[in-house]
Amino acid sequence: MLTLMVFSLMGLVHSSAIPPNNLRLDYQVLSDQEDAKLSVPEIINKYGYPCEEYHVITPDNYILTLHRIPHGRTPNNHPKEVAYLQHGILSSSADWIISGPEKGLAYVLADEGYDVWMGNARGNKLSRNHTYLNPDTSDEFWDFSWHEIGYYDIPTMIDFVLEQTGKDNLFHIGHSQGTTTFYVMTSMRPDYNAKIKAHFSLAPIAYMNHMTSPLMHLIAFWEKPLNALLNLIGIREFLPSNEFISMGGNILCGDDSLTQILCKNALFAICGFSPKEMNGTLLPIMSGHTPAGASTKQFMHYAQEINSGYFRRFSYGWFENLQKYGSIRPPSYDLKKITAPVYLLYSKNDWLAGKIDVDRLYKSLANVKGRFLVAEESFNHLDFVFGIRSRELIYNKLISLMAKH
Ligand SMILES: *[C@@H]1O[C@H](CO)[C@@H](O)[C@H](O)[C@H]1NC(C)=O
Ligand SMILES: *[C@@H]1O[C@H](CO)[C@@H](O)[C@H](O)[C@H]1NC(C)=O
Repeated sequence: MLTLMVFSLMGLVHSSAIPPNNLRLDYQVLSDQEDAKLSVPEIINKYGYPCEEYHVITPDNYILTLHRIPHGRTPNNHPKEVAYLQHGILSSSADWIISGPEKGLAYVLADEGYDVWMGNARGNKLSRNHTYLNPDTSDEFWDFSWHEIGYYDIPTMIDFVLEQTGKDNLFHIGHSQGTTTFYVMTSMRPDYNAKIKAHFSLAPIAYMNHMTSPLMHLIAFWEKPLNALLNLIGIREFLPSNEFISMGGNILCGDDSLTQILCKNALFAICGFSPKEMNGTLLPIMSGHTPAGASTKQFMHYAQEINSGYFRRFSYGWFENLQKYGSIRPPSYDLKKITAPVYLLYSKNDWLAGKIDVDRLYKSLANVKGRFLVAEESFNHLDFVFGIRSRELIYNKLISLMAKH
């Protein structure tokens, strides 16, 4: 009984209890929105910007997709610097362009004269490939957390970008998990600090024991049995069921079609949203691109952070930890090794990056240059990327900080 419940929670039992009416509704709204179906390069070209796509292979053979907007609408032979953008969990490079020109951070930076590159972490739908493992059939493919993304993917993509552009360093901007993977990279592989001109954390995630997302609390509560079950049956791709999503969702669900879309989207169900900052027109487009996919282990690793209060490597249980790490408990990431300049931008109503946790992170980093609390009480986790006023509240600040370097 318990097993069944946990299975269905994580979407492992494919339930047929999908209300057909709601599905029709989604399809109708989606079909009105071309950008929901276009690829990232197609959208970028549609708005008059150039886009290049590259594929890179990590040392452990994952094939990743990178997107580049080399300049704004008017050609610019001397781009200022490279700005590398790294998306959050369940997201992709689409995040940075969904809001459209003048709003999406990738366009804003390209218009400011930056050479903009956007990474895609292993396991999302743009980086769901490997030189010999098949993501549809191989458990081994999905045996990674954000640790491996930070340890292998981000360094591989950064090296590729520096090689292509002939630069020595770049600006790194991460959102949510895109900040976690930055901390993993620069603490585990400190030589990468020299390749970072400055890093900007939007909604920083390292310590998590004060986060307030109801669905993440639920996953954290079930962490141990879930982890054991997932290992036992070997289901590794995160495919949340409707039942699971609705457990956190009632707060979000209104009667109209737009909030219906919201409360059925795993990303919004986990992160929440603030109605004030949400542009309804964009919702169907977002739903066409997110959730973009992740491994269950990424969520399990965050669940461990919520329960332990540490920012440390994945815990396999004391026996395996002893073999892997030489200690019963997993080692913490050494934040003092992060010597690249870091800026933290966070907000009060963020369900995942709790203010107390970010303040603790601020005190733990070796070379933190500043922390900026967004001057809008209701600003939430996803508003850093999709918010109606993210340009005035976040990006203008970001651009002026970048100009200082
Ligand atoms: C995965 O990568 C291989 C090259 O190793 C390529 O032939 C194939 O088309 C890729 N699959 C997808 C879905 O991109
Ligand atoms: C909402 O998004 C649409 C489509 O990009 C845009 O035309 C509109 O100006 C946006 N509204 C606000 C308030 O930002």
